[in-house]
Amino acid sequence: MNILLLGGGGREHALAWKLAQSARLGKLHAVPGNPGIAEHAQCHAVDLTDHGAVVAFCHEHAIDLVVIGPEAPLVDGLADTLRGEAISVFGPGKAAAQLEGSKGFTKDLCARANIPTAGYARTRSADEALAALGTFGLPVVIKADGLAAGKGVVIAQTPDEARAAIADMFAGHFGEAGAEVVIEEFMTGEEASFFALTDGATIVAFGSAQDHKRVGDGDTGPNTGGMGAYSPARVLTRDLEREVITRIIAPTVKAMADAGTPYSGVLYAGLMLTRDGPKLIEYNCRFGDPECQVLMLRLKSDLVDLLSAVAENRLAAISPPDFAPEPALTVVLAAQGYPAAPQKGGLIAGLAEAEAHGAKVFHAGTVRDGTGVLRASGGRVLNVSARGPSVRAARDMAYRAVDAIDFAQGFCRRDIGWREIAREEG
Ligand code: AMP
Ligand code: GLY
Repeated sequence: MNILLLGGGGREHALAWKLAQSARLGKLHAVPGNPGIAEHAQCHAVDLTDHGAVVAFCHEHAIDLVVIGPEAPLVDGLADTLRGEAISVFGPGKAAAQLEGSKGFTKDLCARANIPTAGYARTRSADEALAALGTFGLPVVIKADGLAAGKGVVIAQTPDEARAAIADMFAGHFGEAGAEVVIEEFMTGEEASFFALTDGATIVAFGSAQDHKRVGDGDTGPNTGGMGAYSPARVLTRDLEREVITRIIAPTVKAMADAGTPYSGVLYAGLMLTRDGPKLIEYNCRFGDPECQVLMLRLKSDLVDLLSAVAENRLAAISPPDFAPEPALTVVLAAQGYPAAPQKGGLIAGLAEAEAHGAKVFHAGTVRDGTGVLRASGGRVLNVSARGPSVRAARDMAYRAVDAIDFAQGFCRRDIGWREIAREEG
């Protein structure tokens, strides 16, 4: 089977690494890929917003399955275009990707299907938002409706902060994403991520994870795309996981199917484990990054089998995914200045030495320059990942590998997994 993998971050390197382990894989192509992905795939430059060009590429390279990594092409409807050309795709179409593409869409669906989530108001103007604000307590959560690269959420502690966030969003600071604003009740509890594969009818659990969103040790500093993660999220017990599937995932999949827009792909639920049970914070229509990296380290099943079964609506006919019970952990090495202004071009060496410690290093934001030297090209640069008998063991192996890497312009958090290690040892 020839596969085209779209994307070029750490998530896609982990997917490429796992796809390459399948006996069913013919040739793997990637757009745009990165130097890590290039170890498993032929990388190409194709403009993903040019759907015609992607279709032509698939025909030219006899692609049997397209795996879409990032959210932007999904929300943009690339999966629909490909399906329209009878090309199999892993990933939802435009209408189903609204679960990530519009927070208001998801909140309305939750309200209709009685899915536990924070109380909310959808607003289309600053006046409407300010009027709704009075019905919420403090803190209050203000969100740009659309895709804002993880930056469109403000937790306002005071009415002034809330009003400023509303003004910013309607002033266009988040572009089109802020044309509508969702105001939400603030929920408290521990956060965890749960993943499910679905072909629109069958649902199978696909593991759990927890990440560290803040840039600094002790969960301080600005939010990022994630500075590290581990899997499984043991706080999400078997009973809680069952509750998440029956009360959140299954009604969502059913509502999407009933609306004539079945959801096909991976559904990533961001959850708040509140005193009243798990509640949905938000959905993503793709794998988490770096959550995918730790899931792939634990996955024992053949990824080509799973993704093609989802794409071909035959998930019920194959064995459910099997994960190693041992935990996996990943540490993000980022470029200095991340998240505000990461320095590009920093030299990277020592990856073979790092992997000699038993870790796996996924490339997230790297390039090879004209002379073949590896350099940083993004905010999050490498995902140093390891599996072990405990989270502490996985973490120790990952940090030994981090210390073997020569990346003077990089930094990482030193406390990835702290909460879970405290529980493990408490
Ligand atoms: P989101 O982009 O929707 O995942 O939000 C980013 C982060 O904001 C989440 O991971 C939570 O930490 C926090 N957050 C979002 N919505 C809420 C809420 N209703 N209550 C409490 N925290 C929230
Ligand atoms: N790590 C969070 C995300 O992928 O959205």
